[in-house]
Amino acid sequence: MAEDLHIVAGSKTEQYQSVIPQIKALIEGEPDLVANLANVVAALKEQFGWFWVGFYLVKENELVLGPFQGPVACTRIRKGRGVCGTSWEKAETLIVPDVEKFPGHIACSSLSKSEIVVPVIRNGNVIGVLDVDSDVLNSFDETDKKYLEETISLIGF
Ligand code: SME
Repeated sequence: MAEDLHIVAGSKTEQYQSVIPQIKALIEGEPDLVANLANVVAALKEQFGWFWVGFYLVKENELVLGPFQGPVACTRIRKGRGVCGTSWEKAETLIVPDVEKFPGHIACSSLSKSEIVVPVIRNGNVIGVLDVDSDVLNSFDETDKKYLEETISLIGF
């Protein structure tokens, strides 16, 4: 596919329904994981303009920063720590409308106000998480959960 993204305006659902097939086309046929993760976060960042979008991957029982778009971020997160480490421990998507109200939230940036973290589960194990941060309160809901989980399911880890 051509390496340019068609950006649409519209509802959240319309934006996901436009960008997900494009992500699929971008990563299809490319076996390199880092290349694919890099394009996934770039496409999401370009379509939605979120503050920070990135992957953390489980390595030697820690989450280690992977491909991302946005300001520099914490490199390592332990299981059960912050939103990412909690999503890993519980193996479930966490929607945090106000990060200041999440006990133990790790503030990589004071500009981050709300967050969604989606675990990547393969063969019953969490092997990483997708973390999305917004500089606006209450940015994420069940629509994001549904479509971000779908996005992750497209990636061959
Ligand atoms: N806020 C996250 C840490 C990662 S950064 O936001 C990029 C957390 O509490 O897990």
